[in-house]
Amino acid sequence: MSAPRTLLLAGSSGSIGKAIYNKYASQGWRIITLSRTTDVDLSVSLSEPDSVDILKDYFIDKPCPDLVINCAGILHENGYMPEKQLSEIKSLWLQKSVEVNVISHIHLAQGIEDSISKAKPIVWISLSAMVGSINDNGLGGWYSYRISKAALNMFIKGLSIEWSRKNKLNKVFAVHPGTTKSTMSDPFNVRKDKLYSPELSAQRIYEVIDNSEEYKSGSFLNWDASLIPW
Ligand SMILES: NC(=O)c1ccc[n+]([C@@H]2O[C@H](COP(=O)([O-])OP(=O)(O)OC[C@H]3O[C@@H](n4cnc5c(N)ncnc54)[C@H](OP(=O)(O)O)[C@@H]3O)[C@@H](O)[C@H]2O)c1
Repeated sequence: MSAPRTLLLAGSSGSIGKAIYNKYASQGWRIITLSRTTDVDLSVSLSEPDSVDILKDYFIDKPCPDLVINCAGILHENGYMPEKQLSEIKSLWLQKSVEVNVISHIHLAQGIEDSISKAKPIVWISLSAMVGSINDNGLGGWYSYRISKAALNMFIKGLSIEWSRKNKLNKVFAVHPGTTKSTMSDPFNVRKDKLYSPELSAQRIYEVIDNSEEYKSGSFLNWDASLIPW
């Protein structure tokens, strides 16, 4: 019997994170959970720079995970809501959005990259958002979230190029999970038929990853694996 494959799941305490955990656990994967909460394997705040060394120390004597999924993301918090217009942009909130939506993904990649080997390819998924597509932006607003997710997408593109030099089979993707019921989507009026359960979104993400050999690394993929323009 082959050894179970390993998933490093960051943001494992979030709505989509929990559902992804349950999906992969049901498929027999070994899962390393990472979150700012305490009931996890790695209790880390990825937006802090010291998270890089914590991760490096953790993986120093362990093989690279087969799959990394980073669910960390922020849209609103403590009274900060997505901006409707220019005058509502606050530098502190934009900085916070970049810290969580971009820097946490950078730190996670920096923390595990020493463990990537030529012998074993890795699949990396960053949960991004359709509204981070510059091409798709027809409504405006939501500046901090859109700006930070667009920056995340650029990071993913660069990472896919750099990690292809480590192993041609490495795959790096930004994935839009679809509008999913969670604390993130709760304040908004979403049409019921456009709001998916975390379980359905996790199943769709699982299918995208299961077929990831078919997709070009460095792509921005929708939950149905169609390409989202940058
Ligand atoms: N729900 C949707 O409709 C939707 C749509 C498009 C894209 N997405 C994206 O999908 C991902 C998961 O969303 P969700 O709906 O599951 O949201 P959620 O339940 O609010 O979970 C968000 C996750 O982000 C992490 N996070 C929040 N603040 C953080 C901080 N200051 N530092 C580090 N981590 C922080 C949390 O990690 P901890 O585990 O440390 O608490 C949590 O696991 C996000 O990237 C989101 O942008 C969601």
